[in-house]
Amino acid sequence: MDIGMRGKPFTRYRKEVLEGVSGSVLEIGAGTGLNFEHYPEAVELVTTVDPNPGMSAKARKRSSYHNIKTDSHQITAEKLPFKDDTFDFVVSTWTLCSIPDIESALSEVCRVLKPGGRFHYVEHGRAPDVGVAKWQRRLTPIQKVIADGCHLDRPMYELVEASGLRHISSNEHYVPKTPKIAGYFYIGVAEKPYILPYSDHEPSYGRTES
Ligand SMILES: C[S@@+](CC[C@H](N)C(=O)[O-])C[C@H]1O[C@@H](n2cnc3c(N)ncnc32)[C@H](O)[C@@H]1O
Repeated sequence: MDIGMRGKPFTRYRKEVLEGVSGSVLEIGAGTGLNFEHYPEAVELVTTVDPNPGMSAKARKRSSYHNIKTDSHQITAEKLPFKDDTFDFVVSTWTLCSIPDIESALSEVCRVLKPGGRFHYVEHGRAPDVGVAKWQRRLTPIQKVIADGCHLDRPMYELVEASGLRHISSNEHYVPKTPKIAGYFYIGVAEKPYILPYSDHEPSYGRTES
């Protein structure tokens, strides 16, 4: 996974997603720590959660190499041991596809963010084209087996909104040179509102396709 996720196209998205992140950060599914070198200097502490024991040794090496202060937890994102309103930012890069209970994980993301705190993410997910989406649905059971639980067909924007977070920006597109079933990317920033829950589900802003 480390080799596969290290490529240049991923790096471009990592930089973009981590722009403007500061203070206390939670990264879910941090993997081998490939984001660490891209965190801005204004980040004070990166708390990471990832259930996979194979990831942590590489992640530890990367955090010390890039001088990033981390606090790592070998746990899943569906039930977080952190108090409400703890983090300034939560980050996820290509992780939401692999989390078995994505609704619980996103609800936890919303809970542990401070009011006004932001969730920055880049994920692949359900494509808008009916033909592509049909194949994503068909192939997801196989993909889950060969790619460690990865779902091809999750509607990421809607799932993030359903957690109570509200998008302040979002962009979706097919990435070049990637099969369409795995290449529809969602890049978003969603904020935890000061008042939860909503009396009404108001539309969010900034959803674009390019
Ligand atoms: C495709 S990798 C992405 C890793 C990393 N975010 C990156 O950008 O390189 C997906 C990650 O999600 C993690 N993961 C799987 N299930 C999870 C869960 N329930 N909660 C948190 N992370 C999980 C995996 O262990 C893996 O590290």
